[in-house]
Amino acid sequence: MKNICVLVSGGGTNLQALIDAQNDGIIKAGRITCVISSKEGAYALERAKKADIPTVVIPRREYADSRSYSEAILEELNRQKADLVVLAGFMTILDECVTKAYPYKIINVHPALIPSFCGEGYYGLKVHEKALEYGVKVSGATVHFVNEEADAGAIIMQDVVKVENGDTPEILQRRIMENVEWKILPRTVALFCEDRITVRDGKAYIDL
Ligand code: GAR
Repeated sequence: MKNICVLVSGGGTNLQALIDAQNDGIIKAGRITCVISSKEGAYALERAKKADIPTVVIPRREYADSRSYSEAILEELNRQKADLVVLAGFMTILDECVTKAYPYKIINVHPALIPSFCGEGYYGLKVHEKALEYGVKVSGATVHFVNEEADAGAIIMQDVVKVENGDTPEILQRRIMENVEWKILPRTVALFCEDRITVRDGKAYIDL
């Protein structure tokens, strides 16, 4: 059984999708053993508590820089004996001290089709604002491994939705979450825990 640590910053709907997948037996070979939040009062913490999952708050604002914050996160992940780290709406970029300690063991869900609308500054609603501003006709979400560069690790899963006339960032965000994020994130976690994701030449493949 793999220990899964989920890192959150906000509402935690992706965390909820993981909790539901665990309860429904979709995630079989792993358990969410800890939820770590970068913000006090994040609703994701309530979701974890309701599911009897231990929580830890490591507030980003209490640390001077990304390095010292990442060191605190790394210490906690080590204490938790994490086998898989899931960034589920985690709004802080982690320093390489974490990514190097957990190579191909950290995954992130990004609300766009990487390599579009990603990298530093692209998070949450901003991603959808930019996609609508550009005028793309499809968007979607990506689950990928996390490496030293923001949103640049090997892609594991992606799926698309149509952009409709009159979409607002909020409407598009919701459509992408419901139709893509809440499905591909739990699916990826289940496959990872079953050791069914392999990486060759920097690309991720699912063993069917
Ligand atoms: C999700 O859309 C997630 O993809 C995005 O923030 C939202 C968090 O929602 N993450 C990023 O933008 C990270 N770059 P949630 O807290 O309800 O899961």
